[in-house]
Parts: sequence; structure tokens; C-alpha cells
Amino acid sequence: MEKFVIQGGRPLYGSVSVSGAKNAAVAIIPACILSDGVCRIENIPNILDVSSIVRILHQLGADIRMINKSTLEIDCSNIRDYVVPDDLVRKIRASAYFMGALLGKFSKARVSMPGGCDFGVRPIDQHIKGFEALGASVSLVRHGMIDIHAEKLTGSQIYLDVVSVGATVNIMLAAVKAEGLTVIENAAKEPHIVDLANFLNSMGADIMGAGTDVIKIRGVKTLKGTTYSIIPDQIEAGTYMVAAAATGGDVTVHNVIPKHLEAITAKLIELGVDVAEGDDSVRVRRTGQLQKCNIKTMPHPGFPTDLHPPVAVLLALANGTSIINESVWENRFRYVEELRRMGAQVQVDGKIAVFEGVKNLTGACVKCSDLRAGAALVIAGLAAVGTTEIEDIQHIERGYEDIEAKLESLGASIKRVRVKEPSMAKAL
Ligand code: EPZ
Repeated sequence: MEKFVIQGGRPLYGSVSVSGAKNAAVAIIPACILSDGVCRIENIPNILDVSSIVRILHQLGADIRMINKSTLEIDCSNIRDYVVPDDLVRKIRASAYFMGALLGKFSKARVSMPGGCDFGVRPIDQHIKGFEALGASVSLVRHGMIDIHAEKLTGSQIYLDVVSVGATVNIMLAAVKAEGLTVIENAAKEPHIVDLANFLNSMGADIMGAGTDVIKIRGVKTLKGTTYSIIPDQIEAGTYMVAAAATGGDVTVHNVIPKHLEAITAKLIELGVDVAEGDDSVRVRRTGQLQKCNIKTMPHPGFPTDLHPPVAVLLALANGTSIINESVWENRFRYVEELRRMGAQVQVDGKIAVFEGVKNLTGACVKCSDLRAGAALVIAGLAAVGTTEIEDIQHIERGYEDIEAKLESLGASIKRVRVKEPSMAKAL
């Protein structure tokens, strides 16, 4: 086990470059199953969630060549297996995408119930609703495996009862080779949905409307190989923007699409932070006191739920009373207990957290409960007075490439330290 040790109170200065988008990569890589050719995917982030997805694809029989740290060539033409092994699937939510990809290719799939970050129930009823609308039968077989099969997949009209990124992705994957027209209404509009649609279209799919509430997919017979570069990660970019603001620094975040950052930029400006947009960069400076601000998380283009824990650190330090209303997940507040250990004044009631700003946080020993909670604790440690030790950092490495190197390049004092497992003999 390893932990981060952070010496706080040092403003971040300089430039940092954003890696490829995790939530696009974990959808695009399984989507290669649908191709009859070789897919060259570029700008892949080097993170644990991606390596988990690649490992599953390899176990299914794909030929995968690593061209460099961020480029893979993937050939799925030899895949014959439609059953995804259980041990890897349970670790990562995005393993659910193998359902849609295998169903789209073979008209059948057998995948265990997906895992992922633990912040409440993570149902897949809307995914199943979509598969059934396309003509598939879905049943839960032994050991939590979901069995999906169809004589033939036929295009259909699907209205999502709740805006779901995962369901939108999975239905797109199952529908691209279905016969006829599929219309997804109340679809998710996140940048990674658009990225997946662009990737599929680059292989010869016929998808229109991605990024809007209504996505239309006209089934095609074959999908060829392609070369595709993944978009920059809007959540990683937002995390570094928040870190610059929390430490009172001056940081330029490169390799971004400013339009994807509009919600976080607007909130940072409300908090009293200077944000200057370039063509593919944003510069974030904070010299004065953070001002109180209220935030409600919403599906894109609203404020992204994945930046809720990071931005909570700013509210904990802002003048006055601020509120976060978490409308997407039932319990995304597991970071609150850890922030309190660092001196934050925050009360949670249901989906609402109320922050009374404090002058500064103080370093403490804290634990990560999930990926974005971990990012919040890193930011809190950078801003706090004194030393912060963060355990269970494997959560953070699921979604942030080279985080300590990127932060050190901005002047942070962050070290990775091995945690010796306490043994009884040593304790006595
Ligand atoms: C994706 O999760 C992301 N993960 C999450 O990011 C992100 O928080 C979430 O979208 C919202 O943006 C990946 O892309 C791999 P949803 P997903 O389906 O697809 C309910 C991170 O930190 N729902 O959009 O699982 C659900 O309970 C991760 O990078 C149903 O009710 O999220 C939730 O309340 C964490 N039935 C809401 O919809 C369903 O069938 C949104 O979930 C599906 C979802």
C-alpha cells in the first residue's frame, strides 16, 4: 500500500498539460469490439481504469499493440468470446460497456454486474431498458452474471427515464449495427458521449445528434478500422483549475477544450478567481479571498458531479456560507468526514452540504474513499497549513495520470511513501 505525504501552504505556479479523457477512453476502447479492422487510439490516459479495460479486452482475445505510452493499436477481429470474466469486471463501472459492445457485435453478451466507485446505488435499469427495446432478452444468471441475447437487434425509440451517461453509451454501442433507426431521447450530453459518437462515425457508423437530448443512430452492416485521438479530460482539467485556486497560485492548464469547462469556469469566477481562456488552455489565478458560492450538480452542461468533491475544498475556504446540492448521486459526501479532520466546517443533510468558510485547513492523516474524493483530499492537503498524509491512493490513480509529477512541476511538495503493513509481532 502507498500514501501521499503533502507539505501544504505552497501556491501552485506554472503550466500543466491535461491527459486524454478517462470517461471517453473507457467507452472507446470496448467500442473497438464492433470494428472489423484495426483501431489506432491516441491520447489514451495512462491510468488504472484504462489498464483494467484493456486487460478485459485482451482476455476476450483482442490483439493489442502498445505503440507508445498513450497510443494503442487494437484488433478485435479474432474475438469469439462474449463472456466477460468476473474478477476484473467488478472493479470498474465502465466494464458495463462490454455489454453493449458485445451485444452490438454478437447479438449476445454475458457480463457480471459492474462495480466502480461506491457512492450509492449504481443501477443499470436504463441500460437494460435500452437493450430490451432493441429486441434483446436480459436475465440475471448464476453468480451475478447478466445474460443478454437477441435473435436480431432492431432499431427502436428509447426514452431514458433518467439522464444516464452509461445507458446512453451502452445503447449507442448496441444500436450502431442494429437494423434500422434507433432514437435515444433524454440522452446524456457529456463531452465523452460526443467523443464516442465521433469515434464510431470515424469507423463508418451513422450517428447524429450526439451532444443533444436526442441521438439518432442508423444501423450499418460493418464498421472498419480507424485512427482516433481521445479528447482532453474535462474533469482532470477542472481538478487542476481548482488546485490553483485553492492554493492561491497562478497556473495555466494546457490541452483543454474551454467549452467543456464552462461550468467550472463560471463557478470559479463566482468564487472570486481569475480565469482567462486561451484557444486550448485556461489560466487560473487567485490573489484575493474566496467568496461564498452555491453549486448544484447536474448532467452536462450543468456543473459536473465529478468536480463536486474538488470544488468543495474551495467552499470550505470561502468567506461565509456556501451550499452544494448533489443532484446526480445519492451519496457523494464521503469526503466530508475527511475534510472535517482538516478543520472544515461542513454539515450534510441528505443531498445538501452546507459549508461555513474557515481561514485555513490544517494538515491531517486522511483516507480516500473514491476517485474524486481522493482528488479533493490532495487539493485540501496542498492548501492546508502543515503536513497531510493521504492513504488508499490507488483510488486516485484510477483517474489521474502522473498526478504527483504534474503537481511537483507546479511547485507542490508531494511524495509517494510506502505504507508498512502493521504486523502483530512489531506491535507487541
Ligand atoms: C458516469 O457514470 C461516469 N463514469 C461517472 O464518473 C459520472 O459521475 C457519471 O457518469 C455522471 O456524470 C464513467 O463515465 C465511467 P450515470 P455512470 O449512468 O454512467 C442513475 C468518475 O469519477 N441511473 O450517468 O454510472 C444513477 O443512479 C465517475 O469519473 C439510473 O437510475 O452514471 C445516477 O443517479 C464517477 N439507472 C444517475 O442516473 C441507470 O440505469 C447518473 O448516472 C443508470 C443510471
